Amino acid sequence: MTAPQFPPRLDGSGRRDRLMSTLVAVSAAYRRLAEFSARRRPPVQAVDRRLSLIVDAVRAEASDVMSLRLVRPDGSLPAWRPGAHLDLLLPSGAVRQYSLCSSPEDLSHYRIAVRRIGPASREVHALTAGTRVTVRGPRNAFPFVAAPAYHFVAGGIGITPILPMVHRAATLGADWRLVYTGRDLASMPFLDELPADRVWVRPDSEFGIPASGAELLKDLRADAAVYCCGPAPMITSVRMDLPRTNAVYFERFSPPPIVDGKPYRVELRRSGHTLDVPADRSTLDLVREVLPDVPYSCRQGFCGTCEVASADGGRVRICVDRGPAVLEL
Ligand code: FES
Repeated sequence: MTAPQFPPRLDGSGRRDRLMSTLVAVSAAYRRLAEFSARRRPPVQAVDRRLSLIVDAVRAEASDVMSLRLVRPDGSLPAWRPGAHLDLLLPSGAVRQYSLCSSPEDLSHYRIAVRRIGPASREVHALTAGTRVTVRGPRNAFPFVAAPAYHFVAGGIGITPILPMVHRAATLGADWRLVYTGRDLASMPFLDELPADRVWVRPDSEFGIPASGAELLKDLRADAAVYCCGPAPMITSVRMDLPRTNAVYFERFSPPPIVDGKPYRVELRRSGHTLDVPADRSTLDLVREVLPDVPYSCRQGFCGTCEVASADGGRVRICVDRGPAVLEL
């Protein structure tokens, strides 16, 4: 065994530095211990959070909105908190996120509601009672925090994550109010599940124009947490008019607009395409023009569906990661 090389003292005397020698020995022992435990540790297994569920019932909730009641044939479902969503894996291979809008206290079933606006949602609307579906989750990217008061703002199908929050706030005895907007009453789901006294239902059809930020934040308490889910213009209005005193939490239906973007070039190594991505579009947009089967889901950077390998060994979420790259596509 080779004797450890002790560093000379920093005072230039040429003698061994005792403190430094001890540190070197401790560090070497620690490294040996870490290597030993790494060898003994079993390999990390990825947790498969997929669930096989049955569509127990489907129900029309509003024009173009259908809810699905999902049950697990072999028992109760994993717990969740208001704001959580499921990834629904569709037969075509598409994956879409849908907020849970049932009660977190009742784990006999999950409920999601889906507005028909594109090919994936049309697939969901084609599901019938008795069909088996696969989901991942629940996961929560929109957590409900403790606050003295709550101000909820929902636009159309954006009511889905807000609904369990409203019920939780009511159960907690918190002071809360909800501004619920939509195109018209017929397009707004779950109106009959909301208590009338604290909710302002504001369909655009009755006012002629979408709600302003001031309307959406009407009667806002200075200590209220603001929860907002809906289309991008609604979220922008809330953020622009929100006083500095209030914390805001929001969930979008669509990707946030690209602000101050710059054009860049992306090369797709396997397919041989070169893409010039303009300042206001995502890599995903351009990739799908030449490779329409490249999967995506949230388009906001949190689900990982669009992640691809880059030639430098990294991973890129092409819906949000911007900049020149060579991708393994
Ligand atoms: S689509 Fe979800 S991270 Fe890109």
